[in-house]
Amino acid sequence: MEVRVFDDAVSLGRFAAEQVLEAIAAKPDAVIGLATGSSPLSLYAAWAELARERGTDLSAVRGFALDEYAGIDPAHPESYHSVIAHEVVAPVGLTPEQVFVPSAEATEEAAEAYEQAIAAAGGVDVQILGIGRNGHLGFNEPGSALDSRTRRVALTAETIEDNARFFDSAADVPTEAITQGLGTIMDARKLVILAVGEAKAAAVAAAIEGPVTEAMPASIAQRHPNVVYVLDRAAASLL
Ligand code: GLP
Repeated sequence: MEVRVFDDAVSLGRFAAEQVLEAIAAKPDAVIGLATGSSPLSLYAAWAELARERGTDLSAVRGFALDEYAGIDPAHPESYHSVIAHEVVAPVGLTPEQVFVPSAEATEEAAEAYEQAIAAAGGVDVQILGIGRNGHLGFNEPGSALDSRTRRVALTAETIEDNARFFDSAADVPTEAITQGLGTIMDARKLVILAVGEAKAAAVAAAIEGPVTEAMPASIAQRHPNVVYVLDRAAASLL
């Protein structure tokens, strides 16, 4: 496992974006696993900028989002369909057809179809990940099986509270989601895990230095052969 610590968001984002661009340089139809949340925003900005500077052809790249709220209208501005469209697809310069997001219907069939779509694309080359304050990856909350696959899950009170800032109130945050499982995430060839800010420091330290346990979902990454943590000083402060 590699752990890189940066002084500012710009250099953090550039380093993380280089991981994505390296994969695309090696394989123009690379499959990139996309994450929502504030942590990867500097990565998406740098990806767009570096691809423009280098004239990288992104037309064959495919993207798969990690998760979506269950029952949300995909047109809702805070659905992950919308967030991925505004924060990744548009700024990076992909087309909506290149990017897949799990169905908000969150049925067993939708989960199975998503797994099949990832497999049919040849699997994920680089999976971008944020980490929740409670160590969740995607919406795999503490207690998620370490070999779990894409499925419908319940959100914890902590996650609902953390995500309430995007909605009018905590009562408006969906209580369930569909998420790639920890097993699905671990199938990616490379994991790039981003964390920014002091609020993430405890989860980052436990995930990197603690035991591999369902109580700390991100700890599963210790078993991945190709993982890089990309942190700012605050998120790395308890290592
Ligand atoms: C949400 C997403 C996660 C993300 C997490 C952290 O709950 N489902 O995939 O990693 O938030 O978000 P942020 O980067 O904004 O702290």
